[in-house]
Formats: sequence, structure tokens, C-alpha cells
Amino acid sequence: MDWDRKIDRQHSASLKWDGRKRLFGTEDVLPLWVADMDFAVPEAVQQALVDRAAHPVFGYTEADGAAERALCLWWSRRHGWLIQPEWIELAPGVVPSLYAAVHVFTHQGDGVLIQTPVYPPFFSAISDLGRRCVENPLILGEEGYRIDWEHFERVLPECRLFLLCSPHNPVGRAWTEPELRRMLQLCRLHGVQVVADEIHADLMLAGQKHVAAGGLGEPGIVVFVAPSKTFNIPGLGLSAVVIEDPNLRQRWRSWSKQHPVNLHNPFSLLAFEVAYTKGEHWLDALLPYLTANCDVVTEWLRGHQQGWVRGVPPQATYLYWLDFQALGLDGNALQATLIKAGVGLSQGRTFGLQGEGFMRLNFALPRAELIQALHYMDRLCP
Ligand SMILES: Cc1ncc(COP(=O)(O)O)c(C=O)c1O
Repeated sequence: MDWDRKIDRQHSASLKWDGRKRLFGTEDVLPLWVADMDFAVPEAVQQALVDRAAHPVFGYTEADGAAERALCLWWSRRHGWLIQPEWIELAPGVVPSLYAAVHVFTHQGDGVLIQTPVYPPFFSAISDLGRRCVENPLILGEEGYRIDWEHFERVLPECRLFLLCSPHNPVGRAWTEPELRRMLQLCRLHGVQVVADEIHADLMLAGQKHVAAGGLGEPGIVVFVAPSKTFNIPGLGLSAVVIEDPNLRQRWRSWSKQHPVNLHNPFSLLAFEVAYTKGEHWLDALLPYLTANCDVVTEWLRGHQQGWVRGVPPQATYLYWLDFQALGLDGNALQATLIKAGVGLSQGRTFGLQGEGFMRLNFALPRAELIQALHYMDRLCP
């Protein structure tokens, strides 16, 4: 595993690389935006796909339960959560599942709680479907983001559903067990359904431990998981919805039955299973590299602390939430300035109002490239 190897992803239908012209107006930027990694997938995954591609027929797929079994073993080993295969529903992706959850667990006009800033589809799943976004803004302190508990409790009575992002994108918080317990208990008290998006669960930095919301003994939690972020296979699709409670599972199933979509294909199903069964060494080697890349950004920030860019190191994900508010630029001007400097980041404003003046930097790329990007950003130095 050579994480330092630069892989040319141009002309591979890569959103991150080939989408630059559309998004940034130029191909002359290092793209550090959308959340995939510039690293090769585990060799076993690639080999399995190559072998399957050598078979000349690509007919309909039959999932034989191997993917679900692999998922159960992975989650019990890595996160101590004992999932039963029958709790699992496969789904094409986590974003479609966010939309499905809003459909299944709420009605038009209902309030849906989110903790902002947050991954943009959390907003759109709610507003596109005619529900109301109820924001519980996270509070930024010197140590990073924390929950405004008084506000959380105050708004719960106007909500029917809570979309929890754990670990949190973009602020990189790995919620602690007491924080999670408190959120789940308060939701139970107020009859609010909890749906936890745990797509980043495996990407814990510097020895952090993910706490699985479904493993805390609180009944009725719906959890979205996937190998896509973990093993860098999001382009293939396929994720899972874990629902222990049989009644909720039944509700999910009957809605899905009325909204048929193709869940998987020969490649996505195979990659899902092989990643979880044969990808562990790869991930164990990746995490220290990501942690070291994160440290590079932290060191770079230290050189600028109190200055024009700030940030608190993420505990999880390969995303760094950078605060450029001191530059006094609005989102578009900030984006234009960064593009001119040679980098393409995710614009903070798309993560909610609190994101104005912020940018999200994806540090899952070879270290030399990351350092290059940071040098480019030094051009912003007033
Ligand atoms: C919190 C979160 N949920 C979901 C997704 C995307 O999930 P999918 O590609 O399975 O639709 C992302 C991608 O960045 C994410 O950060």
C-alpha cells in the first residue's frame, strides 16, 4: 500500500477531478472537495472486481446474504455492535436512505432535527420533501464543536425525526458515549425517531473509538452504514440500513416495496463483501496515514493560529473544517480566492448558515500533494 503514490484520476469519470471545470470553472486547481480518497482500494477488492469483469455476462444479481454476514462480522469486531443479518436492509446509498427516512418517519410539515453545520443532503432531504428543518446549531469553542443541550431539548417537542450525523461531517466530531446516550434518551422522552448516519464510523483518527448508536441499548434506532467511505468505493454504490426493531423494519420494507429501485449490481455487491472480509489490513494501514495528514494540516494551522485561518483537528473522517472568517470574505469571494490560489475546497455555506466563511478540506490524498495545496493556500496570506 503506497499512499504516497500519485494516481492520475483524470478522465476516469471522477466527480472530484473531472468535475473541476464545471464546479470551479477551471481544471487548474488541486481538488480537495468531495469526500472520496485519491488512494487505490484494497488489492483484494480490485482483484475480485477484475475477476468478475472477466466473466462475460452481467445479468441480474442475487444477493445470497454474504454481504450482510460480512457487515455483521465487521461491526461486531470493529465497533462491538452485534447486528443480526435479518436487521439489515440493503440500499443503493446513504443519501437515498436519508430521503427514504424522511418519507417513512415523517409527514408533510413535520419538524426534522439536524445539527448544523452538516452534510448538505441532510437539509435537502428535509426541504425537498416539504418537511421543516429544525436546526440545533453546534457551538464552536476553542476545543471544537459541542452540542447546545438547552436548545436541543427546547426544540425536540416540535420534531418527529432526528437525523444524527455520527461521526459528524463536516466538523469531524466523534460523539462520546455520554453525548450519544443523552441525545438518544432525550429523543425517546419526546417520541422523536432517531436515524443515525454512521457512514464515517470506520474513519477514526489518532486512536479515537467510534461509539455505535445502535449498540447502546436504546430501542428503535435506525442506522445507516456502508463500506463506501471506509474503502474508497463510493462510486460503486450500495449501503445498508440496520433496523433492530421489527415494526420499524416492517415500515421501512413496505415503503421500499412501493418505491422499487435497483439495490445492487454484480460489482457493488462483490466489492461490499470483499472489502469487509479482506480489507482490514488495508484500513489499519490507512488510518495512521490519514492521521499524519491531519497532523500536517494542524501544524500548518498552528503557523497561522490567531491569523487568517483557523481550525480544530477532526477526531474522525478525512475532512478538515477550516475557518476563514478573519478574511472577511463571503462564501463566493472566498471560493474564488482559493481557486485563484490553486485549490478547490467544499464551500462552507453549503453546510448551512454557520458555514459562511468556512471551507471543508479533504486530506485523503498523497502527503506531497496535500503539502502543495497548503503552500498554494499560503498565497491567501494577507
Ligand atoms: C455524512 C454522509 N452521509 C452520506 C454520504 C454519502 O453517502 P452515499 O454516497 O452512500 O449516498 C456522505 C458523503 O460524503 C456523508 O458524508
